[in-house]
Order: sequence, then structure tokens, then C-alpha cells
Amino acid sequence: MNIKKIAVIIGGAAIISGTLFAQAYSQDKSGGVYPNDFGSTSIDVSHYPPKMKMYYHLFLNKCSACHTIARPINSQFLQLTADEQAADKKTNPEMFKNPLVWQIGQKIWSRYVHKMMSKPGSNIRPSEGKKIFEFLVYDSKVRKTGANAEAWEANREKLLKSFKQNYPKDYARIFGTSSSAKKTASGASSAPASSPAQHS
Ligand code: HEC
Repeated sequence: MNIKKIAVIIGGAAIISGTLFAQAYSQDKSGGVYPNDFGSTSIDVSHYPPKMKMYYHLFLNKCSACHTIARPINSQFLQLTADEQAADKKTNPEMFKNPLVWQIGQKIWSRYVHKMMSKPGSNIRPSEGKKIFEFLVYDSKVRKTGANAEAWEANREKLLKSFKQNYPKDYARIFGTSSSAKKTASGASSAPASSPAQHS
């Protein structure tokens, strides 16, 4: 075997192992699969204010680096002020009974954006994080509450149901295995005391 051939073989091996490494790394970066990941990968922002349309592009760009953009788009997180929560409790009390569909908090998106920003290699500047956060708060209210609450619930329940069937281990990893969590995902309204809330 001549030197050239050996060089080609070594070069090829390096490329293959490099590719495998890159794949493993990108899988690792995502932290495993989420039900969210199998939902829609875009938001219809045509009726959003111009500022939010701009922030939407920043969001698409920055929040898809480690996992699919479907993960935040189909997330159960919903940030509402105390006043907003009080108002929604009157008009739509269902929203407060199913945290796998609506996980509501006064700082839920601000905490989570900070968490994502602090991950190694996240490449999101504080000024960008603030804009993305503003977008997520606005967008969640539009798509998950009021007239859209029912459609949101149907979308999220569908994702949870098929995820539980196809990825039972990951379902347990994310939501725990308590029977109340199982009931919630299949449509009953009891609230699990376990996991998702502990993420923030
Ligand atoms: C540096 C990699 C990285 C970037 C960039 C990133 N994420 Fe994540 N994200 C992760 C990992 C890893 C997880 C899995 C949970 C964990 O490890 O915290 C995750 C999980 C999530 C979840 C699921 C949380 C849950 O408990 O249901 C949401 C929502 C999310 N990310 C939103 C975002 C948003 C919004 C952005 C942009 C501001 C973003 N991510 C940018 C790595 C990243």
C-alpha cells in the first residue's frame, strides 16, 4: 500500500469519526426528546405587531441552535401577571388544572430564557434574550389563552398522547411516572405535584 492510499484512508476515517462526533454532540446538546419537538415549527405572526414580527426572527434564529424550534413553540409555558391570572381564573378555570398543557407562572419565560442563555455555547446576548423573552410572553398569551385556549389544548394533548405512546421512557423522564401525571396527559384534569414545575 502506498503513502497516498494510507493518507486517503486515514483522512476518510477522520471525516467519518468527525461526523459521528458532531451527530452525537448535537443530540447531546438538545437534552433528549420532548413532546413539543413533534409539533409545529412555525408561528403565524402575520397579525402580530411589527416589533413582535422582528423579535420572532431573532427567536427562530437563536432558539433552534441546540434543539428544534418546535420545542419552545409547542411548550406548555405561559407567563401571566397576577392580575392576568386572576382574570383568566374567572373566564377559563380549566387552564389552571392541567400544567402539562398550561404551565402558568409570573416569571416562567424569564427564568427559562435565562436558563437557556446560561447553557454553554448558547450564543444569546442579554439584549437579544430580552427581546426573545418579550416575544414568548406575548405569543404565549395570543396562542394559548382566550379564544385560542381550546385549540391550544387540543394541540398540546395530541402531542402528549402520541409522545407517551412512542417514547414512554422519555415521557417518564420529563413528567415522572406518578399516576396523576399519566391521567393528566390523557385528558383528566388533576394536577401532578411532580416534575415540570421544578424545571424553572
Ligand atoms: C445551548 C443549547 C440551547 C439553546 C441555545 C437553547 N436551548 Fe432550550 N433546551 C436546551 C436543553 C439541553 C434542554 C433540555 C432541558 C435542559 O437541559 O435544561 C432545553 C429545553 C428547552 C425547553 C423544554 C423545557 C421543558 O421543561 O418543557 C424549552 C421550552 C426550551 N428549551 C426553550 C428554549 C428557548 C426559548 C431558547 C432560546 C432563548 C432555547 N431553548 C435555546 C438547550 C438549549
